[in-house]
Amino acid sequence: MPPVYILGIETSCDETSAAVIRDGHFISSNIIASQIDIHRRYGGVVPEVASRQHLEKITFVVERSLKDAGIEFSDLNAVAVTVGPGLIGALLVGVAAAKAYAFALRLPLVPVHHLEAHLYANFLEHPERKPPFVCLIVSGGHTSLVLVKEHLSYELLGSTRDDAAGEAFDKIARQLGLAYPGGPALEALARGGNPEAIPFPRAWLGENELDFSFSGLKTAVINYLQRARQKGDETCLADIAASFQAAVIDVLVEKTMWAARLTGVKQVALAGGVAANTALRSRFQTRAGEEGLNFFYPPIEFCTDNAAMVGCAGYFHYLAGHFASLQQEAYANFPLVSKNK
Ligand code: KG4
Ligand code: ZN
Repeated sequence: MPPVYILGIETSCDETSAAVIRDGHFISSNIIASQIDIHRRYGGVVPEVASRQHLEKITFVVERSLKDAGIEFSDLNAVAVTVGPGLIGALLVGVAAAKAYAFALRLPLVPVHHLEAHLYANFLEHPERKPPFVCLIVSGGHTSLVLVKEHLSYELLGSTRDDAAGEAFDKIARQLGLAYPGGPALEALARGGNPEAIPFPRAWLGENELDFSFSGLKTAVINYLQRARQKGDETCLADIAASFQAAVIDVLVEKTMWAARLTGVKQVALAGGVAANTALRSRFQTRAGEEGLNFFYPPIEFCTDNAAMVGCAGYFHYLAGHFASLQQEAYANFPLVSKNK
């Protein structure tokens, strides 16, 4: 059997990325042109700037992904692209490019949901992993618990009612005077602090409730920080970072354990940018072990936005014949629904 090559394209936020995935799981190439340095001076992603950057980079990034993979355009079997949710102008650049390649190369166009792509990062280089499992998807825009019943078949178990976990990390990091993106910077600061120093609130929202809320925690941390500053006490910033991080991790991990218990599945997984957090990963590992659950997660570089995960999810849609026409649109808001029921 000749290999199946999927070209994945991702432009939903501030990374212009293209990847070639062989036989659904194996990364032949993964090119990421990051815009972080450009957005950092504004303290966050500026949507118009992101769209323009994608436009400038997309052709180069796609061509480079083919070159790195050592294949020709004629070797490709399909073009998979993130169609939402995300920044609409940014998404449109990737979708327009994918349509152009699919049309010119006479290849199927495969639309991919961004959260589904994050979830599929767990299958990169791991063809032996199989559903069912509960996946906690934690990114800058989303915090969701999803039951993956089989490939492409999902049930949303819970999601955040206000801020996403990554958004809370970014906002608190900003308050602490850390540079964008805040998550990794806050994690680094927290390493020097005591996670038990300040008992910040945990929003459990009731036993076995699988929704999340981080706005109360965010307010508590900001108030604490303001009081500390009024007293002229800046020595405790690392403790604040560590205690905030511990409060977020507590809720994320325990609710995932509840979800596993309620659904009866024996496997839990992590996905999304916040899944790069090593304190979160190690706490998950410990608690999953205690609960007798198998735990897996993507390598750190495939937690944040990349096109390899899009190619991986795209492969499973390709096998199922889920193709789009050249009328395919991009969607800023886009619920995750199963294609296989
Ligand atoms: O998945 P992603 O790249 O983009 C979205 O789809 O949103 O996630 C980005 C988010 C940001 O909020 C960033 O601060 C957070 O993931 N993040 C982290 C870490 N690395 C990235 N949060 C906590 N700890 C980290 N090490
Ligand atoms: Zn993402």
